Amino acid sequence: VPDESRWPETLHRAMRHSLLAGGKRFRPILCLAAAEALGAPAGLALAPACGFELIHTYSLVHDDLPAMDDAPLRRGAPTSHVVFGEAIAILAGDALLTLGIAVLARHPEPERYAAAKIRVLKLVTEAIGSEGMTAGQVADLEAEREVSRSGQRLLTIHEAKTGRLIRAALAAGGLYALASEEALSQLDAYGRALGLAFQIKDDLLDIESDAETLGKRAGADAAAHKLTFPAVWGIERSHLWLGEKVEEAVEAARKLPGGGGKLPELARFVGARRS
Ligand code: IPE
Ligand code: IPE
Ligand code: MG
Ligand code: MG
Ligand code: MG
Repeated sequence: VPDESRWPETLHRAMRHSLLAGGKRFRPILCLAAAEALGAPAGLALAPACGFELIHTYSLVHDDLPAMDDAPLRRGAPTSHVVFGEAIAILAGDALLTLGIAVLARHPEPERYAAAKIRVLKLVTEAIGSEGMTAGQVADLEAEREVSRSGQRLLTIHEAKTGRLIRAALAAGGLYALASEEALSQLDAYGRALGLAFQIKDDLLDIESDAETLGKRAGADAAAHKLTFPAVWGIERSHLWLGEKVEEAVEAARKLPGGGGKLPELARFVGARRS
């Protein structure tokens, strides 16, 4: 990310504000863990993994805008639009997304990864586009105004808004490891369960935790009439779903060559995480 002293300084300051505030770095960690589990050389996936964090941070900046979730706090800091104004926050999101794609186009640099890079770009842009993450965000907002609370719609929203980028980060790691199609499909089974578990936990934390621990406002979903797991299934059954999805992910990871490396442990982290 360009230094704050580079023109346009305000934009770069805003990009760095959201990116460097903290966060779990979960998507790059998944990309690295998948690459490592499937035998990529150490360090190879590090630069492109950062591309996923850039794209994820863009989605957070826009998710928090007044026209969307209207959130005041993110990663323990005031949100981009609160600090820099809406226009700069929108543009910082645009620039984070663009930089993320540029990073994925550039890395890994060795010529033998050219085909993998193109495949990653194709799957990432599909995953975050109008039938992926962006679709999920649209459906999430539309569902705020709907009276009926359909469990099927809920699954569609969660898989799209959260699951798709998580699956793409894992697939990218597999592709940098030049994994077989069979391993890639097993990795995706892990990603499907994990992505859903991740958003169920996010929904639960919004109810069961607080702003101090989360670094973002709690209780916001019910206030906005969001279609969430606890809203449809209640808290207890959401915990059961979460546990089931975590176990499903652990089992899927263990079927990978070498037992999935750190991937089973990362699935358990999703179930246990406190922020
Ligand atoms: C929050 O993502 C948005 C969702 C998709 C649930 P994270 O919980 O990964 O947020 P950071 O990156 O740790 O801040
Ligand atoms: C955000 O979902 C999903 C994306 C950013 C694509 P949420 O709206 O539930 O995320 P939080 O709770 O604000 O982090
Ligand atoms: Mg949202
Ligand atoms: Mg939100
Ligand atoms: Mg949430």
